[in-house]
This record gives sequence, C-alpha cells and structure tokens, in this order.
Amino acid sequence: MTNQETNWWRFGVVYQIYPRSFQDSNGDGIGDLPGITRRLDYLVDLGIDAIWISPMYPSPMADFGYDVSNYVDVHPMFGTLDDMDALIAAAHERGLRVILDLVPNHSSDQHPWFQESRSSRDNPKRDWYFWRDPAADGGPPNNWLSRFDGQAGWTLDETTGQYYLHSFLKEQPDLNWRNPGLRAAMLDVMRFWFRRGVDGFRVDVSYRVMKDEALRDNPLNPHYLPGKMDPHKRLVERYSKDLQPDIHEFNRWLRAVANEFPQRVLIGEINLPLERLVTYFGRNDEIHLPFNFHLIFTPWNAEAIRSMVDRYESLLPEDAWPNYVLGNHDQHRVVARIGEAQSRVAMLLLLTLRGTPTMYYGDELGMPDGVIPPERVQDPWEKFVPGMGLGRDPERTPMQWDDSAAAGFSAPGVEPWLPLAPNHQSLNVASETADPGSMLNLTRALLQLRRKHPALHAGDYAPLDSAADIFAFWRTHDEEQLLVVANFSSETREITLPQGKWHPLISARGTLVEAVEARLSLSGDEAVVLKAA
Ligand code: NOJ
Ligand code: CA
Repeated sequence: MTNQETNWWRFGVVYQIYPRSFQDSNGDGIGDLPGITRRLDYLVDLGIDAIWISPMYPSPMADFGYDVSNYVDVHPMFGTLDDMDALIAAAHERGLRVILDLVPNHSSDQHPWFQESRSSRDNPKRDWYFWRDPAADGGPPNNWLSRFDGQAGWTLDETTGQYYLHSFLKEQPDLNWRNPGLRAAMLDVMRFWFRRGVDGFRVDVSYRVMKDEALRDNPLNPHYLPGKMDPHKRLVERYSKDLQPDIHEFNRWLRAVANEFPQRVLIGEINLPLERLVTYFGRNDEIHLPFNFHLIFTPWNAEAIRSMVDRYESLLPEDAWPNYVLGNHDQHRVVARIGEAQSRVAMLLLLTLRGTPTMYYGDELGMPDGVIPPERVQDPWEKFVPGMGLGRDPERTPMQWDDSAAAGFSAPGVEPWLPLAPNHQSLNVASETADPGSMLNLTRALLQLRRKHPALHAGDYAPLDSAADIFAFWRTHDEEQLLVVANFSSETREITLPQGKWHPLISARGTLVEAVEARLSLSGDEAVVLKAA
C-alpha cells in the first residue's frame, strides 16, 4: 500500500472541540476534559475520525488558553494530566484520534520561561523572547502592531528598560525560534505529548513564527479605512509573518519530530492566499495539512467557490493532500455567514470535496452565532475594539445537547461561561436526532456516505461544466464515478447531466429521490451526490 492509502488523516474527518464550550462535567459552567470523554460516543455515532481540542493547558486565560503558562500540563479548570490520559485512551478504544493545539509563536507572560527571561538582560533565557532597546525617541523598536488592539506590538519592561515583542496581547510575548535552547524545549513539548499517545498537533499561527531578522518596519496599508477596518490592518505585515526564508526550516523542524512517531499529523493554522499557502507543504517534508480557510473567505457563490477549488487543486504540489475548513473558534458561524439554507449545501460540499474536512463543534446542528450582551463579553478583541463584529464569543457558545435549562452542557441551574444561543431549546442534539430532516441527520448521513465511498474519501476531483449558480464536480476512484451538484441559488436551476441514468445517494434538502437522466432540475438551496446507475 502507498502512503496515500494508509495515512488516516487523508481520508479521516477532523472535528474541532472548543473545550470551554463542549461539556461541563462538574457544574462550574465551563467545559472540561471529563466532559469531552463523556461525549465521545456521540462523536463516534456522528462518524468523525479525529478530535482537535483547542488549548487545555495551564493559562491565565488572557486569550482563552492561547496564552500558555505550561506546555506540558492541563489547566485545573479542564482537569488533570490523568484526565487527559483517560481521554486519549477512551478515544483510541473507540477508534478516534486526538489532536492537540500547539502554540509555538508565543507563551503567556506568566510562563516561567518569560519570568526568567525578563528578570535580567543576561539571563540565559533572555534570547528565548524578542528584547530590544527603545527607539531613539524612547518609543517601540519598530512599527509592528499587536493583533487585538492595533496598538504597538511592543511593551516596555521597567525591570531592564527594554521592550519585548508581542504579535498578540501584551500577555502573549513572542518566542524566538532562532534560539537553539527555546527550539529544543518546544520540540520536546511535542515529544512529551506524542509519547502520551497524541496523534497530532494543530499549530497555532505557524506562519507568524519567523520574523524579519532586522525587524524592519512594516509598510503602510494604502487600502486601510480607519474606523471601518480592524485597526491592526493599518499596516501590511510584510516583515512580521510568512515570507521569511527560514519559516520552511521551522516547518521541517516540527515535521522531523512528527516523523519520529508513526502516523502523526501536523495541521498548520496558515491564513494566507492559496499561492503562499501551498508552499507550506514543502516537498512533503513540512506541514501535512496547511489549513485551507478559503471556503470561509471566498464569496459564497458557485463561480467564486468553483474557481477557488480549481485554483487550489492546480497549485497543490505533488504528493500534497488538500483540506477544507468551514468554521472555527475565530470565525462567525457558517449559519450566520451564509444563512441556514445554504449551510446545508456548504456541509455537503465540505464533506464531498477532495481533501480532509475539519468541522467545528455545533455546525452539525446548524448552531447560529450566539447573542452576547455587553456585560457578558469575554473575548479581549471585542473589549478592545467593540462593535465592529470582531469579537469571537458568538461562535464559542455552549454546545446544545438537549432542551434542559443549560442545554445539557451544564447541570440545570448553572450559568454557562457564555450565554446559550437563543434557539437552544428547539435546536439541539436530542431534538435533531428525532427529526429525520435535521441538519444533524444530514451531517451523519454525509459522514457515512463519505466513509463508504472511496470516490469521496480518496478519489480524484474534476470540475464539470455547468449552469449559472451551480457548482458540479466529479469524484472518481477506480470504477466508481460520483457526481456532486450544488445549487447556490434559492431558486430552481437546471443542468445537463452526462449520459446515463443517475441515482441520488443523498440530497441535502431531500427534494431529489428518483433517478434522473439528461436534465437535472435542482431545487433552490439543494445539493446532491449522484451515482451512475
Ligand atoms: C489563532 C487562534 O486560533 C486564536 O484564537 C488566537 O487568539 C490567536 N491565534 C493567538 O494565539
Ligand atoms: Ca467544568
């Protein structure tokens, strides 16, 4: 067998869990690891292959876990290392893989490494972070900005009179991977978890890890609209991310450690245009799956999505395996972005395009964005830049399990850390399981179909010429030929089918049940998978 057939992550489906919001097991209103373990059977039944858990490490939670103060332990709020071991064992018993988040670009300012580093200019860990003297006017060493408030990306530390760099909050100092000591320590963190049985990492903002050696100023963004755009967009990030030649060396360091263990996967959080994104595969020696976020960022119409998919397919290097993402903890829910009707079309596409899909918890229910009153805002981004829709709390609301007071996320009577989305009493796992036409049952059926048909989980992709508002493509494997047809409009559209008789294997809205020949008249917001009879 070739690698292609044996790598589980090529034909598997990844499901992202935001641990604060999946299942609370001890009544404090915050999800935890024992809660996830309790819900594994739900995930097996849903039909996914791997869970990726957003950071569950000790953390002051300035950025909800993306500020790690110890990379080799579990935050007491989420449980213990024993709970993590139990989760991994329970997942593996059920055939599920476990992927953790690795946060290499920055630690928490409470990490002992940073505490040491800031203590004196000659501390052995000084160079584990970026320390620089003030500019001639006493200000920051360059014009780089911090991601959430658009203020300087540097903070002056009184102890030593130097500034430290932080691409995100000041509580998230950037780590210096060009320092061999830091590098060795972080690569050992990976080994620590791989030895405990973890199957891979999603690597946080991995394309930002290497910075221009001279820390040159970033150019101004001529398209910036003050007050209308994220303040951080004032500059073009020419020197603070991507484009540094040794970013690929960084990728290879991580890959070499992953290769020390069998069947481990690296997924990179790489938010770049397709042409740049595909360079992160390297020669099959860098990131296995550089996240492709373009289903989220491309305008939702047939033309644009099709040309994105075709361009991506044509840019992929040899041996590279594609992937798609529809939602995550940083983006408004798919239902909020494109509406409920099209979210079914989107789920069908995510699970039938060529490549590994990553699903976001709750999207299988069609969960909407939550409504967060000002006094319940948690996300620092919303606190710094209120009212621009940048806050990420709406897509992080608790999972909706049933119609009880806390939706089965917490015990009734407990106030969850974020308010439940308004429709939790009618839209939840229990009610949708009972409804044959629900989003949940559609998602389950799609996952089953994908698993059953090699054309879907391993086959080739080719676009099919079709009509306006329709994106149609082939998925083929050996003798198996499947046709996927998606209608991006809310009105009926017709297309000419290739010769022969075509049986619907699945229909997102259930409007197509009979075999068709020659012409297909597809209802609005409908998407189908067809098989040659
Ligand atoms: C990307 C993560 O997905 C986001 O949630 C976080 O705030 C930043 N990286 C900083 O770690
Ligand atoms: Ca809890």
